[in-house]
Amino acid sequence: MNLILLGAPGAGKGTQAELLVQKLSIPAISTGNMLREAMKNGSALGQQVKKIMDEGSLVPDGVILDIVAERVAQADCANGFILDGVPRTLAQAEALEERGIRIDHVISIEIDDDVIEGRMTGRRVCSKCGASYHIAANPPKAEGICDICQGELMIRKDDAAETVRHRLEVYHELTEVLKDFYAKRGKLCLVEGNQSIEGANQDILKAIGVKV
Ligand code: AP5
Repeated sequence: MNLILLGAPGAGKGTQAELLVQKLSIPAISTGNMLREAMKNGSALGQQVKKIMDEGSLVPDGVILDIVAERVAQADCANGFILDGVPRTLAQAEALEERGIRIDHVISIEIDDDVIEGRMTGRRVCSKCGASYHIAANPPKAEGICDICQGELMIRKDDAAETVRHRLEVYHELTEVLKDFYAKRGKLCLVEGNQSIEGANQDILKAIGVKV
């Protein structure tokens, strides 16, 4: 099963992707995590995208499509994958189709902009594996330490309030249109994001026809 998780910054795409990985035993492909990893390693890709990501703008489509096409071709994606944070522009969605990357379901996690700020100020991410936590809604077992890999938790640079506002503008201008794109193809399902993490997860599983 090949899935796309759509939604504004902070809607809960990464959180839900992690839960779906456990439930469905297919990998999540987070372009945000892959790009942050490249920045951490200081690779040419990381250096190319650092300024763009720090200011909350979008990385060029061609860069994204190359890393996604390479990743979905890997053996662990043979039984399916979850795209988290991609596609993000019409050009990216069209290119996935042109490259023959089949998509079965597109879940858009719906959340109002005014809820996002609280999500972002409380978010902590693992500096090693990228797992996402929230100090109130989804705290780690030990403060400041990742449950999965024991990495140190940190605050993302692009979670600064001003940058979050810009990321929301970018979402409404360039990404939200993808809901229409996938609705026309009969693939879109809207899920309420302003509820508990578990509640949203159950709604997603129902939407993709997995028994909860
Ligand atoms: P990316 O890393 O994809 O960021 P994003 O889409 O802005 O999404 P976030 O990771 O901020 O939020 P999320 O929806 O995953 O929410 P989360 O689960 O963490 O992209 C970063 C940057 O990379 C972009 O700005 C761009 O520069 C570049 N990039 C990436 N992909 C690209 C692409 N395809 N094209 C071009 N550029 C690209 O949840 C947020 C917080 O809320 C957490 O603390 C979580 O614990 C908490 N939370 C989650 N669910 C709930 C709930 N139900 N109730 C309460 N709290 C909750």
